[in-house]
Order: sequence, then C-alpha cells, then structure tokens
Amino acid sequence: MAGVFITFEGGDGSGKTTQINLLASWLEARGKNVVLTREPGGTDLGNELRDIVMHRAGFIAPRAEALLYAADRSHHIATLVRPALERGDIVLQDRYLDSSVAYQGAGRVLDPDEVRELSLWATERLMPQLTVLLDVPASIAKDRQAQTERAYDRLEAEAEDFHTRVRESYLALAAAEPERFLVIDGRRPIEEIHQLILEKVSDLVG
Ligand code: ADP
Ligand code: TYD
Repeated sequence: MAGVFITFEGGDGSGKTTQINLLASWLEARGKNVVLTREPGGTDLGNELRDIVMHRAGFIAPRAEALLYAADRSHHIATLVRPALERGDIVLQDRYLDSSVAYQGAGRVLDPDEVRELSLWATERLMPQLTVLLDVPASIAKDRQAQTERAYDRLEAEAEDFHTRVRESYLALAAAEPERFLVIDGRRPIEEIHQLILEKVSDLVG
C-alpha cells in the first residue's frame, strides 16, 4: 500500500488530538495529503456506534462492547482508511486496535489476545507503520479533562484503577513491539512532544 498509516494512543486527555492537529498542519504545509480520522467514529455508521458505546445509559456486556468497537473499526478501515492508503495519503488516526486491547482487555478484563485477534479479523490485519503512545498517569489525564468542561463518557467515568490498568497495558504493548511504537511522556510541553513526533515521522514520509 502506498500511503502511511499512523495511529495515536493514550489515555483520555493524554494530548492525542492536540498532537494530531499539529502534525497534520506540519504535513499539509509540506504539500502532503493528510486524512484525519478517529475511532470510534470516522464514518456515518461509526458515529452511530460511537454514540452507543460512549453515551448509552446502563450496562453493556464487556464482549458486546468489544464487538461494537470492532464493528466500528471494520467499517472504518474498509470504507475510509484503506481507500485513503491506496491513494497514497497519510492517515493520522486517533485510536486504533491498541485501544481495544487496553480498554476492553485490561480495563474490562477480557483476554487481550482474543481482543486483538478480533480486531485483526475485523480489519483484515491492517497494522499501522507507527503508533505514537502518549503516556500520562491517570490522575493527570483526569485533571486535564476536568478543565475542558465536557461531560464524561462511559469509559472516562470509570474509576482510576481502570485507567491505571489501561495505562499499564499500553506500556506492555509498546514494550512488546518497540519497532512500531514511539512512547512519549505526555507530561512534557506540547511543542517538545511535537518535535519528538516529527523526528520519527520525517523518516516515514520522506
Ligand atoms: P486527547 O485527545 O488525548 O483526549 P487533548 O489533545 O484533547 O487529549 O488534550 C486534553 C487537554 O490537555 C486539552 O485541554 C489540551 O490543551 C491539554 N494538553 C494537551 N497536551 C498537553 C501537554 N503536553 N501539556 C499540558 N496540557 C496538554
Ligand atoms: P475519544 O474520543 O478517544 O476520547 P478522548 O479524547 O477522551 O481520548 O474516546 C473514545 C473512548 O472510547 C475512550 O474512553 C476510549 C474508548 N475506546 C475503547 O474503549 N475501545 C476502543 O477500541 C476505542 C477505539 C476507544
């Protein structure tokens, strides 16, 4: 495939949106075609599924939750991401399958290998060339979010130990695949993080 697929991972409020926007501006200023997208969401069907998984009141069984994220992912990759990569675009995506392994696996305590395999089946095994992990302690992410004045969604509302398990799972995923992951301390200043990402991305986009 001609394009470049880069995903951003980290807890809620870790700075993913901030860094994706900075990187997109940098790439566009260099004449690159950039597609910004996110999971859950990114397509019309995905936005309906996003509304269910993030805002539906009441209990959703953990395996059902994993399947809803996988359904969103499958449709998103097939209809938006693969076509963009085939055109040769650079896709910057807020969250991908590592989110499912961390949140549905470690967070909801499903088997992480099964959760990963479900997403690989859903996406016909599409993997990103680079995954940027913005690592922040759960308490910092919560403080940052409190300042943004928006309502907590179903996952964000989980207790701090849920978010600590999510963070540890992300770090374990990064340790297992060091060639795919760039792990950055998300407590560093925004501009410093941006520069660290650029060092890596410059090599990838040529
Ligand atoms: P995410 O997309 O991961 O939820 P955001 O990019 O929306 O995170 O950032 C959450 C909040 O934290 C925003 O108010 C943002 O301005 C702030 N923020 C982002 N990166 C940093 C940083 N490196 N240091 C301090 N605050 C940050
Ligand atoms: P998101 O829009 O990424 O919010 P934030 O900017 O706060 O990170 O929120 C998506 C929520 O869905 C987030 O709490 C993580 C969760 N999620 C999963 O549990 N599994 C998944 O596979 C994905 C993609 C997201």
